[in-house]
Amino acid sequence: MEAHNLLVKIENSIALLTLNRPKQLNALNHQLINNLNQELKKIKTDKNVKSVIITGSGEKAFVAGADIKEFAKFNREEGKSLAKNGQKKLFDFIENFPKPVIAAINGFALGGGLELAMACHIRLASNYAKMGLPEVSLGIIPGYGGTQRLAQLVGKGKALEMITTGRIIDANQALNYRLVNNVFESEDLISKCKELAHQIAKNSSNAISAAIKSINAGFDSSLNGFEVEINSFGSCFGTDDFIEGTSAFLEKRKPNF
Ligand code: CAA
Repeated sequence: MEAHNLLVKIENSIALLTLNRPKQLNALNHQLINNLNQELKKIKTDKNVKSVIITGSGEKAFVAGADIKEFAKFNREEGKSLAKNGQKKLFDFIENFPKPVIAAINGFALGGGLELAMACHIRLASNYAKMGLPEVSLGIIPGYGGTQRLAQLVGKGKALEMITTGRIIDANQALNYRLVNNVFESEDLISKCKELAHQIAKNSSNAISAAIKSINAGFDSSLNGFEVEINSFGSCFGTDDFIEGTSAFLEKRKPNF
């Protein structure tokens, strides 16, 4: 077992998770996916945490993909389980996480690494970041949700081009493609993520979680996003946050959630 492949720092209501396998460019293996899953489960119920930032250790990579050494000998069934378990334990789990998850893309985000960033709610990148889904060069396709989420973010045409060529794009092109929300100098990346997290933390956590659920519903073909929005809207009424938010407005003061 590898020690400390995930560093966790909780400070000022933000959980900073740093994937820590720098020699393997933070490639996602089974152990790291399990550790992330366990840590996120704890954070989900931790009242002291309002948002999560995920980044990679070292200067070179966010995450260079699923660990190729781990799956190189897999057969079809094992390949299918790899994708299914990973999607369930980490990628779908993050997408549906009730607290905002921000990807701080500090270098290479390739394959499963870009898929991890795309499962996060918001992506900020360093000017050195490089992104792509190069799986077809390995004889496979993206298996951690990349064929779906890339098309949702950049559109079908650009997703098809990126996935079929396996081309790696830089941060500015990713911004152009709307694959990332913003690009910063690498030394400012984490502080910019924290700044964003603090802005979010001023608002109602309950309402934020309802907003995440409603937005995600619009991308789930088994759900009617408008219906989910109506129900989530209704569920906010009468909550402590609703009482505090509306009272603060009427009393001309800032809410204290
Ligand atoms: N899995 C396992 N190990 C990896 C890795 C990965 N995805 N990416 C990098 N590494 C390892 C390398 O093997 C190397 O280890 P050794 O020193 O033990 O050989 C170390 O990290 C440093 O990498 P490089 O020497 O290759 O560094 P570089 O600067 O020359 O190249 C790179 C950097 C362009 C990111 C290159 O490492 C690379 O192309 N990595 C693979 C990217 C990739 O194909 N990702 C997709 C993986 S498949 C996937 O993610 C499937 C899925 O959707 C579920």
